[in-house]
Amino acid sequence: MLVTGGNRGIGRAIVERFLADGHKVASFSRSGDAPDGALGIACDVSDPAAVDSGFAAAEAAHGPVEVLVSNAGLTRDTLVLRMTEEDWSGVLDVNLTGSFRVAKRAAKSMIRGRWGRIVFTGSVVGLYGSPGQVNYSASKAALVGLARSLTRELGGRNVTANVVAPGFIETDMTAVLSDDLIAKYRAATPAGRLGRADEVAATVAFLASDQAGFISGAVIPVDGGLGMGH
Ligand SMILES: NC(=O)c1ccc[n+]([C@@H]2O[C@H](COP(=O)([O-])OP(=O)(O)OC[C@H]3O[C@@H](n4cnc5c(N)ncnc54)[C@H](OP(=O)(O)O)[C@@H]3O)[C@@H](O)[C@H]2O)c1
Repeated sequence: MLVTGGNRGIGRAIVERFLADGHKVASFSRSGDAPDGALGIACDVSDPAAVDSGFAAAEAAHGPVEVLVSNAGLTRDTLVLRMTEEDWSGVLDVNLTGSFRVAKRAAKSMIRGRWGRIVFTGSVVGLYGSPGQVNYSASKAALVGLARSLTRELGGRNVTANVVAPGFIETDMTAVLSDDLIAKYRAATPAGRLGRADEVAATVAFLASDQAGFISGAVIPVDGGLGMGH
């Protein structure tokens, strides 16, 4: 199993859940750090050569990647009139094109092995929209098209591709937001609280399992009801 962005936040919880379930897990991050028991590989997903060599290292240690969780992501929030080309392309290159790169690389051996699970970490704001996040929201919405097209290409080979769409989850990414904004998100969430990374990991673990073999091209919210209807 390979998780990108597995050293912190939601990705770390996914790695820890897979390890607890008894799987061999590799993790990509820029630092190369990973939870104890996982194989940490330094790989910036915005670098195609690093993705290729990172996969080679994971495959050399664990064999072909049968489960891929493309979770690495970042935000560069600002209002649209202030958003620079660099703010836009920096986010798109990691969140969307990075996901394409790792999915393409993983698909090869999944097709050969006639089994595979691809899960993308999207976001509630992909379909809900969010002021100050046109780059981030667009990158996450595009993952739906990516997963659905992969489903149509690879579905017959027993490979599924799905998007998990977390709402507001307590991690480094959200720790930088103002108390005001956090209070607004909490109020807008019917569950009345923020989510935990392990709650996203539980959904990813299900989508990666044999039981989820007939679920593909789906967008599964883990958002306490924040995005209902979107
Ligand atoms: N927290 C939320 O409320 C929330 C809600 C919806 C969706 N999400 C999504 O969930 C995912 C994880 O978010 P998080 O909250 O756990 O964020 P986080 O704590 O900021 O962690 C982001 C992870 O992505 C990795 N990463 C960033 N850029 C990378 C790159 N170029 N190459 C490789 N790895 C890279 C980081 O590792 P290094 O920095 O060490 O490279 C880190 O492991 C993201 O896709 C995010 O958009 C989060």
